[in-house]
Amino acid sequence: MREISRASAPAKVILFGEHFVVYDRLAIVMAIDLRACVTVKPRGDKKIIIRSNTMGLSGEFSFNGDYKPILGGFECIRLKPIYIAAKNVLNLAGEVVGLDINIESEIPVASGLGSSAAVSVATTAAVGNLLEMSLSKDDIFKLALEAERVVHENPSGVDPAVSTYGGVLAYRRSGGIMRLKVNADLPLVLGDTRVIRDTRKMVLHVSEIKRLYPEVVDGIMGVGELVANLAIKALEDGDLITLGHLMNINHALLYAIGVSNLAVERLVWAARQAGALGAKITGAGGGGCIIALSLRENLYHVAESIRVADGNPLIVNMASMGVKIEG
Ligand code: MEV
Repeated sequence: MREISRASAPAKVILFGEHFVVYDRLAIVMAIDLRACVTVKPRGDKKIIIRSNTMGLSGEFSFNGDYKPILGGFECIRLKPIYIAAKNVLNLAGEVVGLDINIESEIPVASGLGSSAAVSVATTAAVGNLLEMSLSKDDIFKLALEAERVVHENPSGVDPAVSTYGGVLAYRRSGGIMRLKVNADLPLVLGDTRVIRDTRKMVLHVSEIKRLYPEVVDGIMGVGELVANLAIKALEDGDLITLGHLMNINHALLYAIGVSNLAVERLVWAARQAGALGAKITGAGGGGCIIALSLRENLYHVAESIRVADGNPLIVNMASMGVKIEG
């Protein structure tokens, strides 16, 4: 066993198909240049102690999962996937050892950028490396997905997939992962509404709307699938104008199933009015972040317009590197 191990994994934006992907529709997702970094060290006892600077939380899990807070109260649900990720790797290796797990992340939490999945992926890789296992990316993805099931019970897996493999992916829950060739610079502005949202709640809301209006929602999701397929072609052709149109259409479909709100609409419209080629929710909606596609020369104008509309803008770029052992 090593004395210390470190791994990092990227955040993501969903370009097309959030929510629909839960129902086995196609999603297109891109890793971005914000990372979570996890450092692990073995302990002399059997405790798993997790410290997170970004969440402002620290806590201690006994080997069988009882939780004791160190900093930040009994909010263990946010640390639990990290514990599960570490524990799954320990179980796979047949090791019974305590761990100190330290998380440093640049990814805003609960904003739709997949911070939880990035931390689960980085933890899985760091613990695997600590134990000198040679986990493949497919192994890391599967183990991290198990951990994500604790945060919301029916995750499509798109978040841990892109955090593991990086780049731009076409993802279908039942049918694997395809890396896309993108023949364009994809200049994106993120707009954080600063409204904390809850993925589990939004996914439940969509399942309720689908239960009430099954044909309508199936129709909407079918159109979402057409949009995602056209987007694959537009990405390959480097056709930003078409991509922008398709993003606006995808946003309208998400609006139709009730996952937008006033804070989101304010930022989407601020971006469009400043000349964005397209703007939409990214992730679960109900707050969190929007993304706006812009010509590079107009990025700062779009960002400023989002700021004036009460959002927190951030210019992001594609990250081709997925999970990475840092040492
Ligand atoms: C969350 O990043 C994306 C959702 O589609 C949920 C999921 O795919 O598990 C809303």
